[in-house]
Amino acid sequence: MNGMQIISTGKALPERCVTNDDMAKIVETSDEWITTRTGISTRYFCKQQAGWQLAVQAAKQAVDAAGIDPQQIGLCITATMSPHYATPSTACMVQRELGLAQDVFCFDMNAACSGFVYALETAHALLGTLQKPYALVIGCEVLSKITDFTDRNTCVLFGDGAGAVVLERADAPFAAMHGANGNDTALVCPGYGSEKQFLSMDGKAVFRFAVSSIPVCINEVLTRAGLSLDEVDHIVCHQANRRIIESVIRQMKAPAEKFYMNLQHYGNTSAASIPLALADMQQQGLLKKGSKLICVGFGGGFTWGASLICWNEKE
Ligand code: UT7
Repeated sequence: MNGMQIISTGKALPERCVTNDDMAKIVETSDEWITTRTGISTRYFCKQQAGWQLAVQAAKQAVDAAGIDPQQIGLCITATMSPHYATPSTACMVQRELGLAQDVFCFDMNAACSGFVYALETAHALLGTLQKPYALVIGCEVLSKITDFTDRNTCVLFGDGAGAVVLERADAPFAAMHGANGNDTALVCPGYGSEKQFLSMDGKAVFRFAVSSIPVCINEVLTRAGLSLDEVDHIVCHQANRRIIESVIRQMKAPAEKFYMNLQHYGNTSAASIPLALADMQQQGLLKKGSKLICVGFGGGFTWGASLICWNEKE
């Protein structure tokens, strides 16, 4: 068995929901501008919660829904670029709170908004070497901590949240591709050596990068999987901007309903956006046994990647 499938999802959102009208009280913007330029209507910001608490909540929901013995989880990865602690990693906090076995392979990974698809590919590689059949992959961000709330170019775009999936080694098709190039101007977030305090972005440059790279990612992963677009049930792109996804639909002459969108509710939650979408799709009954999904990430780094993976809920 060298495939892998998703068997459950979970999600967690902070308590504070912020509308576009709320944002217009902070910076010079409007519901009309944000909606037409991005598709975003609301986003959630943490008040008291730490990111790792959201990760724990989402992960617990996914593990409970999977109905598996948590001791059978051999790997726990959190994709995040806004961890509460550099160490202990968010994944280690999840290990403790969920009581996962101490021989679990636990770490955070940062590939910005591509983090979740990078983590899927990593989980696939590692599951092949581990004794245990399950992996827990979480995407979790608290971007409000690194957002400049005086910069209208960025502050209206982002949100906080977490999503999680349980993965199982299985006889199921899995294919992936990934890439990176070092661009330290278009999207930069502060780290320890940085003089910057907040995320900064050249939105147009990221937009151009996104609309040109997503179709390449989708076509490449289809080729690797030996499938056509018709044979795929859903495409789940990183949820950054409705206009980015619409541009991909036009370029690929693809049916719009294949491309799931929930960015209107949460804004851009970086590495959390794809697992949050998967959790909402599951709740909305869109995922059927054997559904073939392509997840596509793109973002800071620049990084990009796509995975073809099946949904197979446990009976
Ligand atoms: O997760 C991966 C990382 N991020 C992304 O994927 C984001 C990719 N980029 C984008 O989604 C879009 O480029 C944005 C939504 C960020 C911006 O949309 P745009 O259509 O490229 O707008 P723009 O930057 O060209 O700005 C147009 C105008 C400017 O005014 P002037 O210079 O034309 O007078 C901005 O100052 O809109 C102005 N503007 C705003 N106005 C009201 C920028 N932000 C706002 C705002 N409210 N919040």
